Amino acid sequence: MAETTLKDGIFAEGIARIQREVDSLLDALLAVPGDARARLFEAMRYTAIAGGKRLRPLLLVATAEMYGVDRAAAARAGVALEAIHVYSLIHDDLPCMDDDDLRHGKPTLHRAFDEATAVLAGDALQSFAFEVLSDPATSGDPFTRIELVATLAQASGAHGMAGGQMMDIVAETADFDLPTVTRLQQLKTGALLGAAVEMGAILGKVPPEGRTHLRGYARDIGLAFQIADDLLDHEGDQALAGKALRKDAEAGKQTFVSLLGPERARAQARALVDQAVAHLSQHGAEADLLRAVARFIVERDR
Ligand code: IPE
Ligand code: IPE
Ligand code: MG
Ligand code: MG
Ligand code: MG
Repeated sequence: MAETTLKDGIFAEGIARIQREVDSLLDALLAVPGDARARLFEAMRYTAIAGGKRLRPLLLVATAEMYGVDRAAAARAGVALEAIHVYSLIHDDLPCMDDDDLRHGKPTLHRAFDEATAVLAGDALQSFAFEVLSDPATSGDPFTRIELVATLAQASGAHGMAGGQMMDIVAETADFDLPTVTRLQQLKTGALLGAAVEMGAILGKVPPEGRTHLRGYARDIGLAFQIADDLLDHEGDQALAGKALRKDAEAGKQTFVSLLGPERARAQARALVDQAVAHLSQHGAEADLLRAVARFIVERDR
């Protein structure tokens, strides 16, 4: 796969479009009120707008588009999912967790504002996500809305991201084997990436039995994504990543890189991406964006 495919092709177009859509939706939905809550909204906007890569919303809309879902509806669901992701980053950076000063190339929220505001902004972004999903503007069908809510709730909480974050903290002192680290990564990172694809399929009214290959794809890219993040931490360029690196080894964290070494971890990530793409074999060109996202995940430098 040529480098140009990612820079100029379907991926570059897809990511630029969803970045614009997510930013403008967040701008409209998080308008700052003229009262004492203004600081909370400003804090939510500080980390949520014009920051991240928007990979989760991209995965969601790319899946939804394969099934002919209205773009505006899919973008709203993408915003809800991204709000959960942003909240997870805000809390992940807090002094009581990873204690990071840099995110998206600027001071972390608790540094730019204060810790209490950062906690509240994370809390409020989490509720905001479910507010957006349960709004009829996301789907006129109440069954679809509740399925979206249930899927995102499951992926965010103790059975998903938050559970994985707990395991990640335990991993600093425990002796985890490879299957346990795999489970940790699947929860911490894989769950929200999986929710992206699942929510696209829900909006597309794909019955659960028709989602098996999509779940396989999501599972593989979810794992590959976290291996890539751990490789970035190990050997990436901090200026490009926009966040502090070399933190995992310092914290004594068990990761794929610490367990396998960087070479085998990289080979594993690439094999997972090939496997992810193979899950899409029943699709034609309509799945090209999902294929491009999978390849981006292991080649990324940020
Ligand atoms: C970073 O996720 C946190 C992990 C789950 C490893 P991303 O790399 O998707 O973060 P942004 O939103 O693009 O900054
Ligand atoms: C964080 O993982 C994952 C979540 C926020 C759920 P990391 O702690 O490795 O993410 P970075 O490296 O700070 O982005
Ligand atoms: Mg962390
Ligand atoms: Mg962190
Ligand atoms: Mg990391």
